[in-house]
Amino acid sequence: MTHLHITAWALALILLIVSYALYKKGSKAGKIVHMIVRLDYLLILYSGGDLFAQYAAMDFPQLGELIVKIIAGLWAITAIEMILVKTSKSKPAGSFWIQFIIALIITIVLGFVRLPLSV
Ligand code: HEM
Repeated sequence: MTHLHITAWALALILLIVSYALYKKGSKAGKIVHMIVRLDYLLILYSGGDLFAQYAAMDFPQLGELIVKIIAGLWAITAIEMILVKTSKSKPAGSFWIQFIIALIITIVLGFVRLPLSV
């Protein structure tokens, strides 16, 4: 399930860039890729939920850090969605890019460096 989680969020990063670039070019395909990104959120949530169940079975070690990890993960997804919604309306998305980078760094550092489940 760790592999699915990593694949799901890595795919979201790639599709974020593709959809953003297509929206910027004014192409209608940006909307299609945006819909695929939305389906991918479900995969991130599903695999994250499954990892949470595995984690619960270990009696919640480092629970504080896990709570921050989950909130930052949800924040990253929200930021991705806001970047694409703003860009689709030709509005500036700079503040959401900054939030996205911060949330992404927090999730990756906590996920890979601090939390116990690994690849
Ligand atoms: C774009 C958003 C996200 C990113 C970049 C991300 C990244 C990561 C990374 C790098 C790991 C460590 C993988 C490993 O070493 O096994 C991880 C684990 C995990 N993630 Fe996420 N994640 C995201 C969203 C979420 C969400 C929304 C949830 C909650 C529903 C979630 C729940 C978990 C859990 C429970 C773990 C296991 C923690 C552990 O290693 O002990 N993640 N995530």
